[in-house]
Amino acid sequence: MTNEYPSNLFQLRFNVPHCLTAEMVQYVENIDHPSIQSICFFENENSPSLEITDDNGFPISSIFFVDIYVNDQKQALKIQTQINEFLKPLCQNNEELDKISSNLVEVDNTNWLEKCYIEMPAQTIGKFYVFGSHIEGEAPQDSIPLEINAATAFGSGDHQSTSGCLALISKVIESNIQPEKILDMGCGSGILGIACKKAWPDGKVVMADIEHESVKVSTNNAIQNKVDVEVFHSEGFSSSDQLDHIYNLIIANILAKPLCELAKDFEQRLSKDGTIILSGLLTRQKEEVLKHYNSQNLILVDEVIINDWSSLMLKRK
Ligand SMILES: C[S@@+](CC[C@H](N)C(=O)[O-])C[C@H]1O[C@@H](n2cnc3c(N)ncnc32)[C@H](O)[C@@H]1O
Repeated sequence: MTNEYPSNLFQLRFNVPHCLTAEMVQYVENIDHPSIQSICFFENENSPSLEITDDNGFPISSIFFVDIYVNDQKQALKIQTQINEFLKPLCQNNEELDKISSNLVEVDNTNWLEKCYIEMPAQTIGKFYVFGSHIEGEAPQDSIPLEINAATAFGSGDHQSTSGCLALISKVIESNIQPEKILDMGCGSGILGIACKKAWPDGKVVMADIEHESVKVSTNNAIQNKVDVEVFHSEGFSSSDQLDHIYNLIIANILAKPLCELAKDFEQRLSKDGTIILSGLLTRQKEEVLKHYNSQNLILVDEVIINDWSSLMLKRK
């Protein structure tokens, strides 16, 4: 993609030790300057991890990026100096000071929508063919097409935790099991629940998500894929009585910590010969998650590992 016009947007990126990030972000938020367009911060996943973990049990990176978008280069340079002056006295020692760096670059005049489409080719995962509406042509023969566009809810199929679930759902299809009632907890875009409804059109599919936006996106995607499913807003089972059924298949691609917390709830709502698919956990978190499920008499029967992500299939002992 060419940069035909100057974008007039500059990215000022700071590398900051984790311990200074919150203070720095607060400071930047209070700089009342019209040239600042937005601020965001996120982990530098290439930096070594700390001993501490976040709410979901993931180790926190030692270095964070703080990105400040500014629409005036001169002002950006001034802001860079001002922030460096602010950070210096906060450092406990030279080692901390050495970890701070910053650079200023002009932001490309990129067509993000086009870029997103190019980077999202259709993919075949197990029995499923996942594609966005920008893809032309027919789905491969014998595949189950899932039309899912990149949107404001998680689950376009390109994340390993979603692919792992689709691969395990495909194994359930191969085993000729016909689940009558299916729950997709943490449905995001609705991709997994929709996949199940397409695989077992006679089954009843219930989906839930803690985010209202995901409920909206799942509902729209279900319409787009012409399937009839129920979608509710709920945190686990706590906010909706409508989820209180016995399920033959429960799928949850959430994160290790909520998966552990939901072990008992899932067990209570699983049919005698039911199947649970768990995802959203890193392989190193597998033993901890399994401990919670084993104590509910649920055992691992199959597993898909993609890079560092594990998707687990469990059944009753
Ligand atoms: C990793 S995304 C998975 C989305 C989709 N199911 C997929 O496989 O791509 C996790 C989703 O779970 C939702 N979530 C997280 N904790 C939850 C909870 N306790 N109850 C319900 N939904 C939850 C999040 O809002 C998010 O949409």
